[in-house]
Amino acid sequence: MALLELKGISHQFGTRRVLGGVSLAVAAGEFVSIIGGSSTGKSTLIKIACGLLKPSSGSVTIGGNPVHGFSPRASIVFQNYSLLPWFSTLENVRLAVEAAWPSWSSPQLVEHATKHLQMVGLGSALLKKPGELSGGMRQRVAIARAFAVEPEIMFLDEPFGALDALTRATLQQELARLCGAAAKPVTALMITNSVDEALLLSNRVFALRPRAQEGGVLGAALEIPLPRPRSRDALLEDQVALHLKAQLEQTLLSNHRAGRPTPVPQEA
Ligand SMILES: Nc1ncnc2c1ncn2[C@@H]1O[C@H](COP(=O)(O)OP(=O)(O)OP(=O)(O)O)[C@@H](O)[C@H]1O
Ligand SMILES: [Mg+2]
Repeated sequence: MALLELKGISHQFGTRRVLGGVSLAVAAGEFVSIIGGSSTGKSTLIKIACGLLKPSSGSVTIGGNPVHGFSPRASIVFQNYSLLPWFSTLENVRLAVEAAWPSWSSPQLVEHATKHLQMVGLGSALLKKPGELSGGMRQRVAIARAFAVEPEIMFLDEPFGALDALTRATLQQELARLCGAAAKPVTALMITNSVDEALLLSNRVFALRPRAQEGGVLGAALEIPLPRPRSRDALLEDQVALHLKAQLEQTLLSNHRAGRPTPVPQEA
């Protein structure tokens, strides 16, 4: 049975229809990515999936239960580091751990939060405030926090979109490693605009196809039948990966062309 299920999701803001009947099932332990161009409704879709936004129509369930509001058993990583600026790195993670396990003792909470910050290489920045960290370090804290609550499902909306290319590549690889090292397989829904990121991390990838009047829909799933965790270097030389990359890029390009307004014929 699917852990996360979206059925017939449509959404409009005023008269602008953004999504036009999106259905998607994510199985437990599966990493699914949705890729699409700018302003195609990706963030709208993931906000609906995690319960932050109520769709105009359609239903969302996690573990068979209807989603109303953000589930405490989920975690989310957004593009713009959603850390509490007045708290230290350690406090940011500890507070999330405390919300997940309110009965834990203070030393237990600190130990668990510290362990997850060490896992992302921030063991020596525990007392720093978000404002004292680089963008990449802040996003590492967000990832540590997401893993620390051992979520039933993780929602990632362009988690590395605001980072420079090198930091982005490093953190993508770290996320792949963390998913591979987790005690139980991570279930995740990720939004990305990067074909390489999708190929590195996902079991399946969907392209979000925008439609001017009717709203966006998902295309057919592209299975990535390569063992995980994957390495960026290995993917660069893997013939299957290169073929899938070309296929995804082609899909994105034709979706982009199809989503553009029809040109008005010029009079001769
Ligand atoms: N709260 C809102 N009110 C009105 N319009 C909105 C709202 N949120 C999003 N939109 C519009 O819906 C469309 C899709 O927005 P969304 O943020 O889902 O796109 P996106 O694919 O995530 O874009 P990006 O690639 O820039 O992150 C855009 O045209 C946006 O202006
Ligand atoms: Mg977005």
